[in-house]
Amino acid sequence: MLIGLFSIFLTSSAQAESLHVLNWWSSASEHAAVDVIAARLLQEDIDWNEVLIPSGSGVAAMIVLKSRVIAGEAPEVAQLNGTIIGDWANLGLLQNLDTVADIGKWDKLLFPAIYSWTRPHGHAVVAPLGIHRVNTLLYNTKIFDRLKLAPPQNWDDLVRIATLLQNAGIPALAQSTEPWQISTLFESLVLAESGAPFYMDIFVNKDPKAYADVRFAQALQRLRTLKKWMQKPIKEQNWTQVTHQFANGEAAMMVMGDWAKGELNSWGLVTDTDFGCTAVPDTGNYHLFDIDTLAMFVSNSPNNRHILAQQKLASIVVSPGVQNDYNQIKGSISVLRNPDLSRMDSCARASWSIFSRGASVQVPSFTHRMATDETSRDTIINELHKFFMDDDITVEETQRRFVLIANILRKSK
Ligand code: GAL
Repeated sequence: MLIGLFSIFLTSSAQAESLHVLNWWSSASEHAAVDVIAARLLQEDIDWNEVLIPSGSGVAAMIVLKSRVIAGEAPEVAQLNGTIIGDWANLGLLQNLDTVADIGKWDKLLFPAIYSWTRPHGHAVVAPLGIHRVNTLLYNTKIFDRLKLAPPQNWDDLVRIATLLQNAGIPALAQSTEPWQISTLFESLVLAESGAPFYMDIFVNKDPKAYADVRFAQALQRLRTLKKWMQKPIKEQNWTQVTHQFANGEAAMMVMGDWAKGELNSWGLVTDTDFGCTAVPDTGNYHLFDIDTLAMFVSNSPNNRHILAQQKLASIVVSPGVQNDYNQIKGSISVLRNPDLSRMDSCARASWSIFSRGASVQVPSFTHRMATDETSRDTIINELHKFFMDDDITVEETQRRFVLIANILRKSK
């Protein structure tokens, strides 16, 4: 009998559950944030088996995910952000998480926007981790103090500050030529131009008239103007390298989602002491959001073997303790309506209070997959990249191309 029990124990521990989790979080803060979840998961005897595909904004990770699914080797879990969640769910590839959502009272505890985001077709299919604010401007407090500068509130402030910085020999903006990083900056410029309705016409509705509009021309022109004030040469670097340049004072400001704040914190830099955080000029009334979510893939294994572990992970991700710890490290804010505000720095608090205002201020990040399908996203980013790289391409020419593209994208729907 004893031997029997012993062997059952051995068998069950030898079969300890393990979940492959495909993600693109390779930086120090991203790792540390993931560790919070992995440690909690391990308490349930479940291993977080990392499948790391480093790639800012997940470009390569999404390609690998597709090939793995096609090859019949879907990971049990994947970081799957944005509109594509609905597409995978349509294919019947995502586990239904309704039970976890019901037991966990997601309808009551999550922000309404997050709750709907988890259920593209009326059923929960992803577990939400955190909310990033993409229209974030970070500034070097030492440089700003030395030159007696206040953070820019609008475009005119930005021009004045950038000119002063230029005279002092300091590039205003740290920036990379990576397509998604150019696009991350540009989407804030579009939002700054004329608010949410115009932004939605460009990135969600892809209205050809909006691309022909003078406001779109102005946003392109501003991108080009900002280029003058970036460090030279502007290199193709990943976002952590750019954040390093900013941290070293090689540029006075940086526009990047607040994951860059999490990263600075993880290197020992303190918010409001070593750097400040504010909204990109003229976007202070908006929250350009990017929601990180984990999807659980239906596995090929017999009896849907991983479902219990996947459900466990989903409920852990949304639990208050993990939410507070994870988001504090990641630089994002909790998906819960009532997080521990005492754990938030001024940057997170500003993000939280604006997001809490609801739908009228919440704007989906185009670059981070919240606004449109993958094909539209990639095509638009590609065109923007060309414009940014080649100063000989005029604004008018680019607008014309965008109008053409918008017409094609609309027809192919
Ligand atoms: C975003 C993602 C963030 C962070 C960032 C940089 O798309 O939501 O969590 O990883 O990319 O890669």
